[in-house]
Amino acid sequence: MYAIEVIGLKKQFGNFWALKEIHLKIPRGSFISILGPNGAGKTTLLEILEGLQKPTEGMVKILDKEWNEQNEVYLKHKIGLCLQETRFIDKLSVKEILNVFGSIYNVSSDRIKEVISLLNLEDKQNTYTEHLSGGQKQRLALAISILHEPEILFLDEPTTGLDPEARKNIWDILLHLKEKNKTIILTTHYMEEAEFLSDYIYLINQGTIVAEGTLNYILQQYGKFITLVFHFDTINQKQKQTLLKKIHKEKDFYQYEFFNHNKGIKILLKEKNHFIQIIEKWIQLLKQLKIKISDFEIHKSNLNDVFLFLTGKHLNE
Ligand SMILES: Nc1ncnc2c1ncn2[C@@H]1O[C@H](COP(=O)(O)OP(=O)(O)O)[C@@H](O)[C@H]1O
Ligand SMILES: [Mg+2]
Repeated sequence: MYAIEVIGLKKQFGNFWALKEIHLKIPRGSFISILGPNGAGKTTLLEILEGLQKPTEGMVKILDKEWNEQNEVYLKHKIGLCLQETRFIDKLSVKEILNVFGSIYNVSSDRIKEVISLLNLEDKQNTYTEHLSGGQKQRLALAISILHEPEILFLDEPTTGLDPEARKNIWDILLHLKEKNKTIILTTHYMEEAEFLSDYIYLINQGTIVAEGTLNYILQQYGKFITLVFHFDTINQKQKQTLLKKIHKEKDFYQYEFFNHNKGIKILLKEKNHFIQIIEKWIQLLKQLKIKISDFEIHKSNLNDVFLFLTGKHLNE
């Protein structure tokens, strides 16, 4: 039995298809990342899996059961949710909030203590939620979602907007939950997060899954290119036109993009033996155009590059 099985899922809002044709088969105990930029359809997909929205078409099964009146109570006990934005009642302390949610699910006071300690919220137990930092709020939301020991956990961008340290704290907690063999479905637009945590990644763009697999599989399958990045001082329109002309003649490029207001260019180059000559040619060209290179990077493709290659877009647009 799969933790989650989705066949031919579509979701329409008015004339707009937010999800086009989604298929998922998620084994129990796996950590899944749904990676895509803003507007890709991540929240819509998650909310359908969570039973909060209805699909327009297709089948969704959680632990072999569909969302209907008959299964609702059962499924709600089996899943935990952390929404993209959680609002708490300001004038309740962390402990009071957990007690309120605990009473809904008949959770013991020992379990509440355990969760407080797991989420590193001991120091904040008596703090009003309005005085928590972003990272602490996110940890409280996570605490609430796991109180009743759900088997499947849905996390919608749990680290968006957090500073690196707070993000790292959440990652540690998620790794701990992963060890406990929970099925975890996380959405994110941070490539590093998907790389670090997940067993399996779905890349999603405009309501469509554009690639899926383990990190290694995706990189091997789609990442057969090298990424060159030239940083330079802002170039003028004439210089840019000349570069564009050269680019369009080049058959060994997959994708390119000017970034940071024309202060650099990123080029995805086919993995070929003569890439050194191509780099030399480009350095020559930039020199001829009197474009001063301030920095240069070359690296094997990562998930951001694969996403750019497949969609022409950036993950964190
Ligand atoms: N209730 C709704 N009504 C109309 N359009 C919606 C609604 N919810 C989401 N959308 C649209 O569907 C697309 C996907 O949104 P969402 O699932 O929130 O993306 P993500 O979570 O990946 O940023 C967006 O274009 C969004 O504007
Ligand atoms: Mg979202």
